Amino acid sequence: MEIFAHRGASAAFSENTLLAFEQAIIQGADGIELDVQYHPDGDFIVLHDSHLDMTTNGRGRYDELGLSELARLDAGSQQKIPTLAQALAQINGRCAVNIELKDAAVEPGRLAAISGLLRQQLELAITKGNYSWSHFIVSSFNHHLLPAVKLKCPKLNTAALIASCPLSYCEFTRALAVCQVNVSIDCLNAALVANAHSLGLAVGVYTVDRQQDIRRCYALGVDVIFSNAPDKSRDYLKTI
Ligand code: G3P
Ligand code: CA
Repeated sequence: MEIFAHRGASAAFSENTLLAFEQAIIQGADGIELDVQYHPDGDFIVLHDSHLDMTTNGRGRYDELGLSELARLDAGSQQKIPTLAQALAQINGRCAVNIELKDAAVEPGRLAAISGLLRQQLELAITKGNYSWSHFIVSSFNHHLLPAVKLKCPKLNTAALIASCPLSYCEFTRALAVCQVNVSIDCLNAALVANAHSLGLAVGVYTVDRQQDIRRCYALGVDVIFSNAPDKSRDYLKTI
């Protein structure tokens, strides 16, 4: 079972920052999960919420500020809000990267803009850094985005994020051309894992920090857990 650092090593360091990503690598994470917002100026920033108030010293929606104004904000511990390109340059192929696209886009124009920019940025990371396509997986709760991304980047693995989970969702995800489902720990059960695996889908589970949850995921044959404390989760996993 692989351990991905959820928003970086976010239990101990400010989430979705270069510091949290570096610490996740030091803690031995197999991968890093990060949240990406599409900015209308034509770039991706790494930020969980659409509002700045939760994790930065800014106010209001992120897209009410220009990229240069966003770059001046404090995202905690004197860290900045990274762009996706900065985050990928920092990680530089030292572990896998799960890019969660937060955008609610449904209009074809916006879907095309997001998937086109993503392809451009991932191709650049592969050309300039130590990445191959297999380092990346793109996930989203927005199931309109997943086929659009797959169409633009056929070599890219994608995952459907699912927060509430009737079993039939696993069949539905086949139509999205995903290779993985990332489900909330609240809707994890043995039938879901068995169904996903029978359809050839890997199963990721978020957010898994408690020992009883790690134990349960391992017993059910979950493939990936997203943990805020990859070091502690790894230490515990070794004891099972
Ligand atoms: O990608 C798994 C998980 O991060 C999804 O929920 O709210 O933490 O982005 P959230
Ligand atoms: Ca996330």
